[in-house]
Amino acid sequence: MQDKILDISRRRGITYPSFEIYGGIAGFYDYGPVGKRIKENIENLIREFYVIDEGFMEVECPILSPEDVWAASGHLENFADLMTECKKCGAPYRADHLIGRHIGKEVEGLGIKELEEIMEREKIRCPKCGGELDRIYSYNLMFESFVGPGRDKKTAYLRPETAQTTYLAFRRLWEIGRKRLPLGVLQIGRSFRNEISPRQGIIRLREFNQAEIQVFVDPERKDTNEFGTVSKTKVRILDKNDRESNMSLADAVEGEIIKSRLIAYHLERALRLFETMGINTRKLNLRQHTDEERAFYSTDTWDVEFRSGEFGRVELVGISDRTSYDLKAHQNLSGESMEVNLEGRRFIPHVIEIAYGIDRSLYCILESCYVEDDRGAYFKFPKRIAPYQAAVFPLVNKDGIPEKAEEVFKRLKQARIFSLYDRSGTIGRRYARADEIGTPFSITIDYDTLNDGTVTVRERDSRKQERVKIGELVNRLFLNFNF
Ligand code: GLY
Repeated sequence: MQDKILDISRRRGITYPSFEIYGGIAGFYDYGPVGKRIKENIENLIREFYVIDEGFMEVECPILSPEDVWAASGHLENFADLMTECKKCGAPYRADHLIGRHIGKEVEGLGIKELEEIMEREKIRCPKCGGELDRIYSYNLMFESFVGPGRDKKTAYLRPETAQTTYLAFRRLWEIGRKRLPLGVLQIGRSFRNEISPRQGIIRLREFNQAEIQVFVDPERKDTNEFGTVSKTKVRILDKNDRESNMSLADAVEGEIIKSRLIAYHLERALRLFETMGINTRKLNLRQHTDEERAFYSTDTWDVEFRSGEFGRVELVGISDRTSYDLKAHQNLSGESMEVNLEGRRFIPHVIEIAYGIDRSLYCILESCYVEDDRGAYFKFPKRIAPYQAAVFPLVNKDGIPEKAEEVFKRLKQARIFSLYDRSGTIGRRYARADEIGTPFSITIDYDTLNDGTVTVRERDSRKQERVKIGELVNRLFLNFNF
């Protein structure tokens, strides 16, 4: 299936490797014309969930930020993988992964000295050529850059997460948000990680797209009045030993498996969002990070994972309790107070972070919506995700039919509906092309159209056809279409 998804993806312009004419670089992908539409739809759904439903604000900050930001946040020191390289062939390896695989045991979290001892004791060699492995060293995953010339030249880094750039303006956001908690701030944008050897398509990119929400909360109230709306939702939880259990969110909170009602609430919201995007919810589970894998800034992290047929467990969103770690760190280095005064209490807010990977979500939508039947392969995207809502076909390219078809196409454009116009090949081929990229409706203009002003509308999944008056098309298709 992955091969077929990749084939459609490249051929039809969903995603394809960047810089192809120069041989490409692992970890960089373009969104083609179809993929870009899908990505926009994903981002807009996220906006609806958080900006409209939750009443959060949205910001956009620079992707390049000065060294101070990353010194304060801890990324300069801690955002690193332990590496080794083969002395003979030069192949690079993440030391903990290599050693873990060799001894069949998790070693994430061990230091350089301990890992080197194991490497030596177990006589671990380069898996590619059998060569001797070099000393282990710390490899920072941030891309370094410089701002300005000459003496004023400043070291800067491409952000490895959007989160920090949101925190920097906290004081302003607090004022703009009228000094109330919880205060939620969404940022959708690019982040960068110089991964050692990304090999999983758009699942692991060096330049990637995040939608991160920072919910600033009162540390004494990691709760929400909305918990009752989600408490009965059953979730599948994988514990730290990969044991699976099914329980309601209320039971998970009651049993202190999920430590706060606020995190439980947002886990449910994320599950609903993935369902709305068209991701197969039967393949989703919640998983709490182990102490070893949890990021240095977090005291509790939960992922929603998708079980991909191709890539195994894919983390789609991470929800973390970052406490006051980041705001405190920026207060300490910048000297700017991050304290708030709420009803006479002064404190630094805590942050519950909801961090979505957009590229990964897009891949999991493709895997979930991929269908093959007698007509061939196509994507059963929800309408909200489909790159185009309709495809318009003139049955023949003569007798005034193209002119009529263009008139219909223009009506859709005027109604601000993303549509395609396809005049080439048989109608069967045109249906197949529209289906392949998940277009919900195909509209054919034929000789009857010239007589009675109706068109044939074919629905993608059922393939049912109905005659609809041109004047009713927009309302029937996009507001009130009942097949
Ligand atoms: N900000 C959390 C992450 O990038 O994973």
